[in-house]
Amino acid sequence: SNIDGMKLFLQHCKTCHGVDGNPTDLGEGLGARKFADAEWQAKTSDERIIEQINEGTPEMMMPFKEKLTPEEVKALVPVVRGFKK
Ligand code: HEC
Repeated sequence: SNIDGMKLFLQHCKTCHGVDGNPTDLGEGLGARKFADAEWQAKTSDERIIEQINEGTPEMMMPFKEKLTPEEVKALVPVVRGFKK
């Protein structure tokens, strides 16, 4: 597709997850992890990443299913994967 996943990430996610997948102070305070973490990457499925973006976590991360189309949510998966070290 021609959806720019990185652009979406910078628009909607970087306030907590940082430009490079390392949580900002805000994100860390809420409990966000480093997306570079290879162990977390290995145990986390694409489906789980999609579910998290759609549903969020109460009081930690807002849900995006009303804000982003399914195609846009899918385009964020390779961005999150790309932060792996
Ligand atoms: C308000 C801050 C905030 C924003 C904005 C935010 N997140 Fe999160 N995100 C969090 C926090 C906090 C967690 C940890 C939630 C938990 O442990 O349940 C998290 C967890 C995650 C996880 C990990 C889920 C898991 O199973 O470990 C993914 C993937 C993720 N966010 C992706 C995104 C994407 C993509 C966006 C943008 C569309 C985004 N987040 C926007 C705060 C945020």
